[in-house]
Amino acid sequence: MQALRKGASPSLSRFLSRVIATSAVAESASATAAATKTPLNREFQVYRWDPDNGGKPAYKSYDVDINSCGPMMLDVLFKIKDEMDPTLAFRRSCREGICGSCAMNINGTNGLACLTKVERDGGKVTKVAPLPHMFVVKDLVVDMSNFYAQYKSINPFLQKRENPDGTEYYQSKTDRNKIDGLYECILCACCSTSCPSYWWNEDKYLGPAVLLQAYRWIVDSRDDFTKERLAQLDDAYKLYRCHTIMNCAKVCPKGLNPGKAIAKIKQEIHASH
Ligand code: SF4
Ligand code: F3S
Ligand code: FES
Repeated sequence: MQALRKGASPSLSRFLSRVIATSAVAESASATAAATKTPLNREFQVYRWDPDNGGKPAYKSYDVDINSCGPMMLDVLFKIKDEMDPTLAFRRSCREGICGSCAMNINGTNGLACLTKVERDGGKVTKVAPLPHMFVVKDLVVDMSNFYAQYKSINPFLQKRENPDGTEYYQSKTDRNKIDGLYECILCACCSTSCPSYWWNEDKYLGPAVLLQAYRWIVDSRDDFTKERLAQLDDAYKLYRCHTIMNCAKVCPKGLNPGKAIAKIKQEIHASH
C-alpha cells in the first residue's frame, strides 16, 4: 500500500488515506464490540475419534461463548481448536462455500460448516458429526477416496474427437445455459452422503454428486462423447440405484438438484435406445 501511495496522484493518495482511516476505525469498532458483548454460552457435542489412541468414537461436549466468535459453525470449530482442544481435526479451506471441504453433519443435516449458522436458542445442543456412512480418518475428517475415484470414472472434462488447429470451442448462449445448475457443484459430497441408496451401495452406485457432474458433461454441446458417456452410465447399479428419494436436493448447499439431473440422464438413455 505504501508503494502504491508513493507513486499515486494527490487525489488518489487522498482517497487511499480515507480508505485506510475508515478501515482502521471499522476494525477498532468491531474489536470494541466483541470485547463488550455479554457472553452467550452454548453446548456443542462434537464427534471425536482418533485412530491412534485405540478408543471408540464418542461425542465430546464443549461449552462455547458464541458471542466471542463468528456466527458460523466453522467459527465455533475454530474457537474450540484454537482455545480449548487443539487435537480436534476438521477440513476447511475457503470459509466461503466454494471449496466444499468443510462438509459435515450438523444437527442431523449435511451442510457446509462455513455456511451454517450456529443455533442461538438457549435450550438446544448442537451435534456435529462427520458425513454419514463414510469411513472416518479422524474426528470430522472422512475418507473421500471412493468418492473421488467415482468422479474420475466419469471423465469429468471436455472430450473431443479431434481439434486439428487447436482453436477454442464456441458455444451458443442457449447451449451455455444448459449447464447452469450443474457447473456450480463444488463436490462437497453433502448430497451423496445423504442418499440412502448411496449408503447401501457406495461401491457400485455413483451417487447424486457424481451423476450430476456426469450430466454436466453429457449436456455440454462442445463434448463429442455423449453416446459413450450415456452407455457407461446405463447400468443397474451406477445409475439405476437412484430411487428418487430426493434427500440430495434438500441438502445441497449450492441449491442444485442432483435428483433432477439423474432423471434427465435416465430420459436421455431411454431416448437413445
Ligand atoms: Fe455438494 Fe450440491 Fe455438488 Fe452435491 S450437488 S456435491 S451437495 S454442491
Ligand atoms: Fe438418492 Fe437423490 Fe436419487 S437422494 S435416491 S440420488 S433422488
Ligand atoms: Fe470451503 Fe466451507 S471452507 S466450503
